[in-house]
Amino acid sequence: MTQVKTPVVQRLLDPDWAAGTLADDVRRGLGALPRTLPPKWLYDDHGSALFDEITRLPEYYPTERERHILQSNASAIAQQSGASTLIELGSGTSDKTRTLLDAFAATGQLERFVPVDVSEATLRRAADEISHAYPGLQVEAIVGDFTLHLGQLPTGGTRMVAFLGGTIGNLYVEERAAFLGALADSLAPGDSLLLGFDLVKDTNRLISAYDDAQGLTAEFVLNSLRVLNRELDADFDLQAFSYVPFWDPHMERMDLRVRSEMPQRVRIPGARLEIDLGSGEEIRVEISSKFRPEGIRSELAAAGFDVTGAYTDSGDDFAVVLATRTPT
Ligand code: SAH
Ligand code: TRP
Repeated sequence: MTQVKTPVVQRLLDPDWAAGTLADDVRRGLGALPRTLPPKWLYDDHGSALFDEITRLPEYYPTERERHILQSNASAIAQQSGASTLIELGSGTSDKTRTLLDAFAATGQLERFVPVDVSEATLRRAADEISHAYPGLQVEAIVGDFTLHLGQLPTGGTRMVAFLGGTIGNLYVEERAAFLGALADSLAPGDSLLLGFDLVKDTNRLISAYDDAQGLTAEFVLNSLRVLNRELDADFDLQAFSYVPFWDPHMERMDLRVRSEMPQRVRIPGARLEIDLGSGEEIRVEISSKFRPEGIRSELAAAGFDVTGAYTDSGDDFAVVLATRTPT
């Protein structure tokens, strides 16, 4: 029997990171107009658990579509990548990733799995589960921020970086370019990126994916206010806000906001901030951009990646591309 290797967990976020960065982010985002909240704060323990439930909702098609795409193409992806290290950014529970790990297990080429996430508890649990399910695989988890720490990814061997779940769509256009550029800089020629992204489709299907009948998505988005109450001693009254998701046809993205249902003053002492919200005033919590394959291809090319494999489901709902780092 192959020995289970104990996962190693590296923390690139210092213990003050949560409070310090959150206060800065909140001052910048909530203090300006239009008001925004930084999305990585959606994923505290409760938020991560809610997200996990969202992925199982009938309305939320992306997870099942992506899982299916990975199941159909994992062996080709594993072989083409030639990877000995699989790095996963924003890994969450790494549930769909197991499809890739299974395919790699069959080729015997993978030595190391590096899940990277800001949500430490979810990451630790996933790292433990994966190391038990794949004996012999070295799991080196990183508690880190993929907008800050790409320069500190482990080196050595051939690497494939997986960025799944359409999380790329949660970055603004300019953040996306900066992210892809920094990722390309941190990789060597021959390393690759496996990118999962959601496709532009019928507006009603998009809206129901982000506005489920059970109200789980509303709870997930409103939970970000609860995070501010806990971490920054804020006094958001969750009852005084409602969730408003809408499709922005110009930007081709879902725009996910909370709306103040009455005029109110909110105090956020931890960010040294007080804001007055009018009745109907909105705060954007997240965007979720939808893509066209040509668009992604050219954004990847601009950053230094060459698409070598493109996969979709039968309904063209979701897409996964494999792209290699081009020689500089
Ligand atoms: N990859 C999984 C989870 C997607 S949800 C899937 O496909 O289902 C997005 C994940 O990214 C969450 O686990 C969240 O904690 C993490 N995340 C969000 N912003 C992040 C950031 N800036 N750096 C690292 N992880 C981040
Ligand atoms: N990456 C996911 C997406 O864009 C995140 C997500 C799913 C999400 N449902 C959400 C973010 C609802 C905010 C609100 O699809």
